[in-house]
Amino acid sequence: MKIAVAGTGYVGLVTGVCLAEYGHSVTCVDIDETKVKLMQSGVSPIYEPGLEELMLSNMERLTFTTQYKEAYKDADVIFIGVGTPEKQDGSADLSYVYSVALQIAESLERDCVVVVKSTVPIGTNDKIEDIIRTNLVNNVNVSVASNPEFLAQGSAVRDTLHSSRIVLGVEDEVAGITLKKVYENFESPILVTNRRSAEMIKYASNDFLALKISFINEIANLCEIIGANIDDVAQGMGYDSRIGNKFLNSGIGYGGSCFPKDTKALHWLANFHDYELKTIKATIDVNENQKIKLIKKSRKYFDSLKGLNVAVLGLTFKPGTDDLREAPSLVNIPIMLEDGANIKAWDPVGINNFKKAYPNDITYCNTIEETILDADICFIFTEWEEVKDFNVSKYSQLMKNPIIIDGRNCYSLVDMENLNVIYDSIGRETIRSLEYSFQY
Ligand code: UDX
Ligand code: UDX
Repeated sequence: MKIAVAGTGYVGLVTGVCLAEYGHSVTCVDIDETKVKLMQSGVSPIYEPGLEELMLSNMERLTFTTQYKEAYKDADVIFIGVGTPEKQDGSADLSYVYSVALQIAESLERDCVVVVKSTVPIGTNDKIEDIIRTNLVNNVNVSVASNPEFLAQGSAVRDTLHSSRIVLGVEDEVAGITLKKVYENFESPILVTNRRSAEMIKYASNDFLALKISFINEIANLCEIIGANIDDVAQGMGYDSRIGNKFLNSGIGYGGSCFPKDTKALHWLANFHDYELKTIKATIDVNENQKIKLIKKSRKYFDSLKGLNVAVLGLTFKPGTDDLREAPSLVNIPIMLEDGANIKAWDPVGINNFKKAYPNDITYCNTIEETILDADICFIFTEWEEVKDFNVSKYSQLMKNPIIIDGRNCYSLVDMENLNVIYDSIGRETIRSLEYSFQY
């Protein structure tokens, strides 16, 4: 089939490339010329494991362009995958989605199914259909369908090629038949429902996972107070298949491009309809506090970080991505700078993006060793494999004061017990084998 995809971010580009892999002819459209030029030369503008390789092996079925009219005018199906960022009040900013809808309306020269992949508040598909139908230039039929994505960054290609489910929210037969054809070579289970239910499935799924994380983070906070161990607690809970062992990792809260904005957007939407989603409100509040938990912990050791050498391991919101959206590092590093800390930071792929916000205030390092050398305190924000596999004895060898505040529980307590360190992690006993005489 002839498919166009609007937006080449994590969602749009991965969708386009995976549809090409399953045999469709796909034109990816983006307003960003630099991105388009990169993709035309076979380079992925985002870091996503396996994406560039898959893109290169499907180049004969892939086209990249800024010329939306050419791409949309005779497409069988157009996917909308542009961003829906959060507005100041927590609601979703739909301006990009609506501007693509207008572009589609003015371009179409034949019947088409428009598929909304971006996460949009319940009812938005109806508005998109309205916008397109009232602004059509030519006399063509358009159906709008909701087809939310369930990909996680870092495993986006696998999550799309082998999706846990394909949800099709349709209001007419043409859209249903066309979308089943798009996905005929995929092996995932297909659920066909109406558009509003499909939109809700996406929000409810993301918000449930966010709730699960905030729940385990609260239990971890309580474990610290009463002397229980969250690793064992989570393992013990996870054996119950009704609970499941996934998404029970406590830490410094969820970040990324989805959970923070999707919890706020659903809460906002419920409020708008005079309903308070109390569980989601609690999820959001717990997460805000959790993000600054490491700074709070550091106050046990130093009143302020002024003049101290601070090592930061990990900048991205999770491993496997270069994305910094809603990353805890972005909340904590300004506080450290405000304190007057000398910061050295390491991240295997996130440094270039972080430099855009902080070009001069931080020393960026290529290795963990260089980062922790002479440090007074070390913060771990992201559980990169390099951090987890790091030879922990080097903390006591290289740091001036080996105080490690780990927001992702990268090490077992047993491994840290015999080192000359303070190891303060989430929901577990603090290891204090370091004898030290400085301020405490
Ligand atoms: C996505 C989804 O769109 C969002 O709804 C979902 O909840 C999370 O992820 P993502 O792919 O991460 O967003 O967005 P982003 O990386 O910001 O990419 C959006 C792309 O669309 C950018 O390349 C941007 O240049 C492009 N764009 C934006 C357009 O082509 N046209 C526009 O009008 C606006
Ligand atoms: C998420 C959903 O997983 C995906 O299905 C949806 O389509 C988009 O949003 P993503 O944001 O890429 O994907 O990453 P995910 O792996 O879900 O992690 C989100 C955040 O939760 C990260 O900050 C991560 O560190 C945190 N997290 C995850 C925890 O704190 N604990 C966990 O147990 C799992």
